[in-house]
Amino acid sequence: MTPLLDVRHLHVEFRTRDGIAKAVNGVDYTVGAGETLAVLGESGSGKSVTAQAVMGILDTPPGFVTKGEILFQGRDLLTMGAEERRKVRGAKMAMIFQDALSALNPVISVGAQLSEMFRVHQGLSRKDAKAKAIGLMERVRIPAARERAGDYPHQFSGGMRQRIMIAMALSLEPELIIADEPTTALDVTVQAQVMDLLAELQREYNMGLILITHDLGVVADVADHIAVMYAGRIVEKAPVHEIYKRPAHPYTKGLLESIPRLDQKGRELYAIKGLPPNLLHIPPGCAFHPRCPIAQAVCRTDVPPLYEVTERDGTPLPGRGSACHFWKETIHG
Ligand SMILES: Nc1ncnc2c1ncn2[C@@H]1O[C@H](COP(=O)(O)OP(=O)(O)O)[C@@H](O)[C@H]1O
Ligand SMILES: [Mg+2]
Repeated sequence: MTPLLDVRHLHVEFRTRDGIAKAVNGVDYTVGAGETLAVLGESGSGKSVTAQAVMGILDTPPGFVTKGEILFQGRDLLTMGAEERRKVRGAKMAMIFQDALSALNPVISVGAQLSEMFRVHQGLSRKDAKAKAIGLMERVRIPAARERAGDYPHQFSGGMRQRIMIAMALSLEPELIIADEPTTALDVTVQAQVMDLLAELQREYNMGLILITHDLGVVADVADHIAVMYAGRIVEKAPVHEIYKRPAHPYTKGLLESIPRLDQKGRELYAIKGLPPNLLHIPPGCAFHPRCPIAQAVCRTDVPPLYEVTERDGTPLPGRGSACHFWKETIHG
């Protein structure tokens, strides 16, 4: 079956005055209808740039897709005609950003912004569009939606604004939503509410969802699969619950040990030592080797492919992969 989105061997570079920053270096991932993929990694690992390439909002120049395919329902967005690409991206994909205040128009009421979507894209009358806008505000559980439709973005709390942005993204009933750190700017309790709402709507609308985050803590309950990125590559992929139990890459292991746990208050968090690499000068071999607690000579010279991860006796673990020469040692100890 053709997945909804199939990103293959994507490469993106930024041509800057200082040199070429290799932001995305061969990313492969797929998302099916009704499926949630969490993309995890520290800041600067290429999560947003990959998403921008998919959405067609890459900052070009300086950013260029240099290799790869982005297949949406089996057709490559990178090679189809501009008009068609615009149609697919406009009607079938939507994006949710971290900062609703800069994504929404500050001088137009939220009701009018939502109505506008229905008027422009679905040709609804002013009255019908407004009714639909209010319905959607209710759907994302804005209290007193009818009264608040005339309010401006700054009059809402951060969590409510994020709900409005979710409503904007849902308005055209897209088949794929990319949410880039949708709850990062919110308080922890509000984070969970917004994340639950997003997951609920994703199921209801049977959309594909790519959930970008640097926080492993927020994705456990909502994602099906997880892809961990480091220096523009996927270093581990797995069904989400398996990764918590048995990571197969030392980087993932480090991320997991950095999550604060309520039951272990006061315990010092293991933070991965060192910093992510400068993308102008990615280390040879495994890009993670300078920070890796188990690196050997081979890690400094050979780029690890994404190995298929299996049980100790070779039984396949479907959907699992690790770009570590020592994945066996990592997962099986
Ligand atoms: N507009 C830009 N100009 C130059 N370099 C950029 C630009 N946007 C992103 N990059 C480069 O791409 C890298 C990855 O960025 P990004 O995908 O935003 O990381 P994140 O994983 O935090 O979302 C950045 O560290 C930076 O080197
Ligand atoms: Mg980002």
